[in-house]
Amino acid sequence: MSKTPVRTLTRQGATVHIYPDKMTASQAAAQFWADAMTRIGEQRADAKVVLGMATGSTPIPFYAELVDLHRRGHLSFAKAVIYNLDEYYPISPLDPNSYHYYMHQHLFGQIDVPANQTHLLDGSVPHWAIGEHCRQFDRWIVREGGIDLQLLGIGRNGHIGFNEPTDLPGPAASQLPTRRITLHPVTRADAGPSFGGRDHVPRHALALGTEPILAARQIVMLAFGTTKAEAVARSLDGPITGRVPGSLLQQVGPNVTWWLNSDAAALLRD
Ligand code: F6R
Repeated sequence: MSKTPVRTLTRQGATVHIYPDKMTASQAAAQFWADAMTRIGEQRADAKVVLGMATGSTPIPFYAELVDLHRRGHLSFAKAVIYNLDEYYPISPLDPNSYHYYMHQHLFGQIDVPANQTHLLDGSVPHWAIGEHCRQFDRWIVREGGIDLQLLGIGRNGHIGFNEPTDLPGPAASQLPTRRITLHPVTRADAGPSFGGRDHVPRHALALGTEPILAARQIVMLAFGTTKAEAVARSLDGPITGRVPGSLLQQVGPNVTWWLNSDAAALLRD
């Protein structure tokens, strides 16, 4: 399978790679990610690399590729420090629908990252402790020196992480801290099948803020399928607005690389 993109576009300094299918896009993105991890690690005396990870259906083949690179001896996570984007609230980390479970299944259980270097927001903290828990997460990321490499997917409604569309103006929408959010009806509908129906999807989530996401030194955005085409086009070609959180990425220009398949890129002009 060729890993050469069919088309490469630029938008506000960002590179947009378009592949025929999600497998080739995922393989190419994973190779890009692995190269970036290696390069960053080599530049640091302690070899530490701070990674921001995403969940959902989109990154599954990307994670499979990272695991494969690790098994073949091409990639180590021994010095990686990982912060995940989000977690449902409330949810037990043992629940198969939790993002704790997902990360263990798709990545942490298959690589050499030490358990105490992986961090997920905890969907089982009591209600009264949520504020401090989220502030702590932000403080830890600041103490690490920020995120080196952030993986993102995009919701059908344009959300990044679980930063849902908001009426806040672009600047305010770009400075949101980590916090508890209310999930958008579209997000709950999309998660419905794995929870046995949308009514069983938690109404809330804990979400890494737009501020730490946009401050990441490099962002890798994956989007596949026709259901994402509108959110992709509005993010890349529309105005910068809190109503389409993906559009906030326009402000960080060359720090973002988009990895799409042709279906997700269907509404982009050359
Ligand atoms: C998940 C996350 C979300 C998803 C988005 C797309 O950690 O932050 O923004 O990336 O909802 O989900 P999928 O990949 O399931 O279409």
